[in-house]
Amino acid sequence: MKRFLVVNGPNLNLLGKREPHIYGTRSLADLMDAIRVKAEELKVQVDFFQGNDEGEIIDFLQKEAPASAGIIINPAALAHYSLALFDCLQALALPVVEVHISNIHAREEFRSKSVTARAARGVITGLGFTGYLLAMEYLTEQ
Ligand code: DQA
Repeated sequence: MKRFLVVNGPNLNLLGKREPHIYGTRSLADLMDAIRVKAEELKVQVDFFQGNDEGEIIDFLQKEAPASAGIIINPAALAHYSLALFDCLQALALPVVEVHISNIHAREEFRSKSVTARAARGVITGLGFTGYLLAMEYLTEQ
């Protein structure tokens, strides 16, 4: 069975409470439930990680990537500046889909640039939780 890593970056533990007009009212646990339902449908395994610290996210990816077939990552604000996370994703040589819940191109100027996106096969931005589910469909086909 294919195994995917689903990684959420800083402050995404606050989903549901954090700026609900932008990120919605559903929690990280709700997101994980929706992903688990999709995983059953697609017959894939998913393992989750949420971290508020760049280093712990990189440690998780380095440790778990060798036993995985793909990565779905919402780097959150790390997308906008973390060259360390970019280097990590490049080094792992797995298919990566970057997801953003909000449309990063329709918000503040600084959000429209993602330095991590270059390490991704593609980026899904602005489709809410559905972005993660579409990323799973894509990776399952690979
Ligand atoms: C985000 C967009 C980022 O700009 C922001 O820093 C986040 C969440 C999103 O999912 O829309 O924390 O990645």
